[in-house]
Amino acid sequence: MPSEPSSELACLDGRLTPASEAMIPATDEGFLRGDGAFELIRVYNGKPFALVDHLDRLEGSASRLRLPAFERTTLAGEIDSVLAERGGPDFDGCLRIVMTREGRRLLLTEQTPGRAGSIRLGAVTYAPTRVLDGIKSLSYGANMLCSRLARERGFDEALMVTPHGRVLEAPTSSLFWVDPTGTLCTPPLADHILASITRDRILRLVEVEERACTLEDLALAEEAFLASTTREVQPVSAIEETALPDPGPLTRSTTAALREQITAELASP
Ligand SMILES: Cc1ncc(COP(=O)(O)O)c(C=O)c1O
Repeated sequence: MPSEPSSELACLDGRLTPASEAMIPATDEGFLRGDGAFELIRVYNGKPFALVDHLDRLEGSASRLRLPAFERTTLAGEIDSVLAERGGPDFDGCLRIVMTREGRRLLLTEQTPGRAGSIRLGAVTYAPTRVLDGIKSLSYGANMLCSRLARERGFDEALMVTPHGRVLEAPTSSLFWVDPTGTLCTPPLADHILASITRDRILRLVEVEERACTLEDLALAEEAFLASTTREVQPVSAIEETALPDPGPLTRSTTAALREQITAELASP
C-alpha cells in the first residue's frame, strides 16, 4: 500500500514547500561537515513554546560559530507563516530551525518523537568538545553514536560520562537526580553540557542544586529523570544496574510544575 504523503512543511530561505521537497545543495558545509547550528522547538496547538529562549540560543550559537548573521524579524515572520500553513492551532508537533555555514535558513515542521513512559540509561564514555561550549551545533554524530552504543548494550538511552568520571547529560536531554538526603540535583553548565531551556525552566520552578555528578552518586540516587523540549520530564527507571522508582515523588512534582508553567506561558499573549 502506498504510504500517505507527509503533511510536514519546510521553509527554505523564505520559500515554503512540502518538507520532502526542500533541497540543500550537497556542497553546503552544513551538510558536508555538520558546520551549522539548530534548534528544536515544541509547538503546542500552533504555539511555539519558549520561542524567545530558542531564538536567543540560536543567535548565540550562530555568532559563536561565526555563521553568517541572520535577521531575527525575518526568521520570526517565517516561523509564523510555516506554522499557520501547517494548520495553526491544529498542529501539535515540533519546529526545527537549521542555519548552515553557507547562510541557508531551513525551517521544518516535524512530529513530536514518541516516548516511552520511563527510560533505562547505560553509561557511555564521552568527552565534550570544549570549543563548542554554548553552541547547539549540527555536529551531533557523537551524541547519536552514544545512543546507539547504549542501545547495543540493552539500554534505552545513553548517559554521557567523561573519561574522568563526570556524569554530564544524555545525548538530547539533561539529567536530574535525587540524592539520599532528598535533594534534587543536576550537573552544572560548567561541566560543558548544553544550556537546556527545559533545565533552565525547572531550575526556576523547583529547588535544585547544581552539583557535579559521578556514577557512584547515581548508584545511591533515590530518583532520576531526563528533561528536554520534547520529553518535558521523563522518569528514569534504571541507571546501569541501579533500579529507580518509576516515577518517584520529586519526579512527579517536577513534572506537574513544568506542565503548569508550560500551560501558563502558552496562555499568555
Ligand atoms: C545535549 C543536549 N542536552 C540537553 C538538551 C535539552 O535541551 P532543551 O531543553 O533546550 O530541549 C538537548 C536538546 O536537544 C541536547 O541536545
